Amino acid sequence: MLFEENSLSKKDLTEITKMHIDSLEDSMLTILGESVVFNYYKFISESNLDCLFLVKEGDTVIGTCMISHEPNSITKRMALKYPIVILSSVLKQIIISSDNRKKIFQFLDKDNEAPKSVLGLPEVIQIFTNSNYRNRRIGSRLLEQVESYLKKRNEKVYCLKTLDKVDNLALHFYSKRNFVEVGKNVVGEKPYVYFTKTLQN
Ligand SMILES: CC(C)(COP(=O)(O)OP(=O)(O)OC[C@H]1O[C@@H](n2cnc3c(N)ncnc32)[C@H](O)[C@@H]1OP(=O)(O)O)[C@@H](O)C(=O)NCCC(=O)NCCS
Repeated sequence: MLFEENSLSKKDLTEITKMHIDSLEDSMLTILGESVVFNYYKFISESNLDCLFLVKEGDTVIGTCMISHEPNSITKRMALKYPIVILSSVLKQIIISSDNRKKIFQFLDKDNEAPKSVLGLPEVIQIFTNSNYRNRRIGSRLLEQVESYLKKRNEKVYCLKTLDKVDNLALHFYSKRNFVEVGKNVVGEKPYVYFTKTLQN
């Protein structure tokens, strides 16, 4: 579903897709390519289990955040809805790039050993802003939208994970916004750190 907007235009989806690819170079969606990313956000905007938040300047999307109430089933739910798009992109990457082949198999093989304290919590799956607008509170505004939506649904805590690397600037962004570290794990070969945040009334 889409937070406080009636519908998502093709232009919005194209801007979100471009921003995702520019901002999250290493994500599995980016590896699978533009059409998968485009259909992913279309799917999220139509799903009852996930919610998409946007910040716009005029008519242009400059920030996007996605949260899920059922994070563990997103891949399966999307693959059921768009089997051809997903399968053809996965097959293409497996054939043309040995590096991406390895990443895809690691992704499929991931053991979902998230810390117990995050199980069942709504999770921020993606958050990113246009690189020309960083450090202008767009990310903070996205989290404010998320929190107001969650409070209306009587949620008390939400969670997210991010790469556990010293050069990950998002670590600073979260720790300054009252997120508390609750555990770590490795997904594929990537180290992740998990955070939760308790919502104040
Ligand atoms: C993380 C991100 C969404 C923050 O959005 P933003 O609009 O720049 O955030 P704000 O202006 O509200 O806050 C900026 C703070 O985040 C930090 N920050 C995080 N990532 C940053 C980046 N790539 N560039 C600049 N600052 C960044 C800054 O140090 C700043 O700290 P401050 O509060 O002490 O000033 C945005 O930087 C981004 O899209 N990064 C690339 C994608 C990404 O890493 N997503 C998170 C993956 S888990």
